[in-house]
Amino acid sequence: MGLLDVVYTRAARPALFRVDGGDPEAVHQRTLAALAAAARRPAALSSMRKLFTADLSPRRVFGVTFPSVVGLAAGMDKEAVALPAWPALGFGFTEVGTVTARPQPGNDKPRLFRLPASGGLVNRMGFNNSGAAALAARLTEIGPLSTPLGISLGKSKVTAVEDAVDDYLTSFRLLAAHADYIAVNVSSPNTPGLRSLQDRGPLAELLGALTAEAVVLAAGARPVPVLVKIAPDLTDEAIGEVLQVCTDTGVAGVIATNTTLSRDGVADADAEVSSEAGGLSGAPLTVRAREVVRFVAGHSSLPVIGVGGVMTVADGLALLDAGASLLQLYTGFVYAGPGLVRELNQAVAARDRGVR
Ligand code: FNR
Repeated sequence: MGLLDVVYTRAARPALFRVDGGDPEAVHQRTLAALAAAARRPAALSSMRKLFTADLSPRRVFGVTFPSVVGLAAGMDKEAVALPAWPALGFGFTEVGTVTARPQPGNDKPRLFRLPASGGLVNRMGFNNSGAAALAARLTEIGPLSTPLGISLGKSKVTAVEDAVDDYLTSFRLLAAHADYIAVNVSSPNTPGLRSLQDRGPLAELLGALTAEAVVLAAGARPVPVLVKIAPDLTDEAIGEVLQVCTDTGVAGVIATNTTLSRDGVADADAEVSSEAGGLSGAPLTVRAREVVRFVAGHSSLPVIGVGGVMTVADGLALLDAGASLLQLYTGFVYAGPGLVRELNQAVAARDRGVR
C-alpha cells in the first residue's frame, strides 16, 4: 500500500464518510464541489497532476486515442462540473452523464447507501440531471479537453419506453459533437422499463437509429462511436443477442457492466442497508463483471470497456486479462481513493514494458 493509499484510507476516507452526518450523497456533492474549485485553479491542477499522474499507457480503441486505460465511470460527474480535475487525478478518460433529454430531479432522497463491510454502494439515483441541453452548454463553456470524453445517454423518466428512440435521439443530436464516444445506457435498474431496451427488438431499433444518426451528423467525417452499456444481470443468451444487435447496427463497443440487482457477496453487517432498492456496485460485483467482460470479449470482436468492482490493482488487471481494452472505476475510487488510479496506471505501464 502506497503513502497515498494510507493517507486516503486512514485519514481522508474516515473523515469523508463522517461529514454531513455521514450522508453519502452530500459528501459526494461536497467532493465534486472541491474538485470543481480545484479545476478552476491551474496551480491546484498542477499539484494534483504531480501527485497523482504516473506513467500512462496509451491505447487506441475504436479509433480514439486514450492516454491511459483507466477511466472514470458514468454517474460520478454526471453534469461535468469537475471535468478538468479528472485527468489531473490520473484518469485517461471521463464518462459524464447519464443525462436525459428532459431535465429531471431523480428519485427521492435518500437514494445512495454505503455498504462499508462489503466495499459496496447501493444507489437508486434515477438519472437526476439538468438535461442534455444544459450539459451541451456546459461542455461548450469548458472547451477542449486533455483526455477523451464519453457521454452517457439515458431515457427521460416521463417518456414512455415505446417513445424511447426519439428521446435518446434528442439528446444524441445535442451532444454527439461534444463526445469522443456516446454510451447508450439501457442498463440502469433505476428507471422503470429501461432495461427492457436491452431486448433484441427494441435494442435493434434504438441502436440502429443512433448509429444512423451518427453518420448523418458526421456529414462525411468519421461518425462518433456509439457504445452500449449492459447490465450484469443478463443471461449469456441475452448477452449473445445484444452482441448480435451490436454487430448488425455498427456499434463500436460494449461497456460491461452497470450495477446489479443481485445482493450476492454482501456481508452480513450490510444486510439491512442492502435491502434498499437500487443497483449494487463495488466489491460484490467484481467477479460477475469479470465474467461478463470475458463472455463479451470471447463472443465478439467488439472492444470492451470493463467496469464493476475494480477495488484493487489486481481486480483491474484481471478485468484486462478477461478481455477489456479499457477500464472504468466508480466505487473503487470512493473506497480506495485516487491512489488506486495511480497504481493501476503504474501496473499497466509496467506490463507494457514487460516488467511484472
Ligand atoms: C452509477 N452508475 C451509473 N452508470 C451509468 O451508466 N449511468 C449513471 O448515471 C450511473 N450512475 C451511478 C451512480 C452511482 C451513485 C453509482 C455508484 C453508480 C454505474 C457505474 O457507472 C458503474 O457501472 C457501476 O457502479 C459498477 O462499477 P463500480 O462502481 O463497481 O466501479
